[in-house]
Amino acid sequence: GRRRRPRCERLQLLLRRCQEAKACAYCPYSRFPVGAALLTAGGEIFSGCNVENACYSLGVCAERTAIQKAISEGHTRFRAMAIASDMGTDFIVPCGACRQVMREFGKDWDVYLTKPDGTYIVKTLDELLPLSFGPEDLKKV
Ligand code: THU
Repeated sequence: GRRRRPRCERLQLLLRRCQEAKACAYCPYSRFPVGAALLTAGGEIFSGCNVENACYSLGVCAERTAIQKAISEGHTRFRAMAIASDMGTDFIVPCGACRQVMREFGKDWDVYLTKPDGTYIVKTLDELLPLSFGPEDLKKV
């Protein structure tokens, strides 16, 4: 069935943890800090920030940092991710590469797009990346 949305206190913690992760962003080139917090099916939270590099193209987004931390610690089932930036005008949205990496782990989980004032909108992976290609497609040939 559909993955459960986090309960209110868990969601508040997830939203706080993505803001805290943003403070760790290593972004001397863009000066655009981003934080992400990923809630696993088991209720654990893994956070991540963007990590840039003097060789610009090697920079990695906050969302993928969080996913790689969780996967490498043995967690593969995710319920939600929250993302924070310093942009006050718009809700932060994940880049296309991150959407595809998130989609690898299902398309019916939730992404909370936030503003620094704590307001948010929530979208499922399927809404963020419609008509997506995923692991199931490899089994169809
Ligand atoms: N960035 C993220 O970490 N996540 C997003 O959702 C958007 C962009 C990072 C990548 C780069 O370090 C900086 O923000 C500017 O693009």
